[in-house]
Amino acid sequence: VLRDNWEARSRSDARDFYVASHPGWDEAERWEAQAEADAELMLHAVDAEELATAHVLEVGCGVGRLARPLAARAASYTGIDISAGMVAEARIRLENVAAARFFVCDGLRVPEAACDRRYRQIVALAVLIHCPRDVVRSLVASAYELLEPGGQLRFQVLADPDDPTGIASLPAAEEVHQEMRDVELVVTPQMRELIDGHYYMGAKFRFDELEPFLLDAAGGGGVVLFRPDLVHVYGWIERPRGGD
Ligand SMILES: C[S@@+](CC[C@H](N)C(=O)[O-])C[C@H]1O[C@@H](n2cnc3c(N)ncnc32)[C@H](O)[C@@H]1O
Repeated sequence: VLRDNWEARSRSDARDFYVASHPGWDEAERWEAQAEADAELMLHAVDAEELATAHVLEVGCGVGRLARPLAARAASYTGIDISAGMVAEARIRLENVAAARFFVCDGLRVPEAACDRRYRQIVALAVLIHCPRDVVRSLVASAYELLEPGGQLRFQVLADPDDPTGIASLPAAEEVHQEMRDVELVVTPQMRELIDGHYYMGAKFRFDELEPFLLDAAGGGGVVLFRPDLVHVYGWIERPRGGD
């Protein structure tokens, strides 16, 4: 069902909207600016020099929206996606970026072709928020295996909105929250119409269950979590340097 849903969205006229549902999704300049900002967000505080000589993997790469900014910051970029339609489009859009490559995956693990190297950063933005719990578990396990020591899997998952715990109260978090509210306020009727009727199946996590869930899925590592608002948690799981 997950694959069929994304395959259908990859053939929709509003494909890019389903990839990145933000105001301006159908304007090239705003689309690229948002991709840059999202890449920066996902790489927050990552050592740029270290990254420049390392490999990056994106799980759920869609049409390659983040491929360009990620490839520009790393030695190589690999994108994997459950939807063949998304991967086909990504290959077209990134054909002039030699350091970028794309593979279709089964939605549960990193495919064989992408297991030829260890990754410094593995990024999953707007992907696990759409996946059932067992799919999240399987992707985390598979990705963690491919991290180099000190490497991180950075992700975004859905928070259970009935769980009030873990919400950051730092001024920075409030700023992020306000930005998100501002975006929500400008969801146009067209955007609303595109979302309505779509079946999304993302698991919602209670904040305090997330760390044990991730450690259990990965079989180790260190976890950092950040909950800027009621509905999202961002974070990473890191493979220890010099460890397993
Ligand atoms: C909302 S889009 C985000 C794409 C990209 N990360 C970005 O930010 O531009 C979600 C993408 O994840 C893919 N996807 C969903 N579930 C997946 C899974 N279990 N494994 C791999 N890809 C998946 C979908 O096909 C879709 O292309």
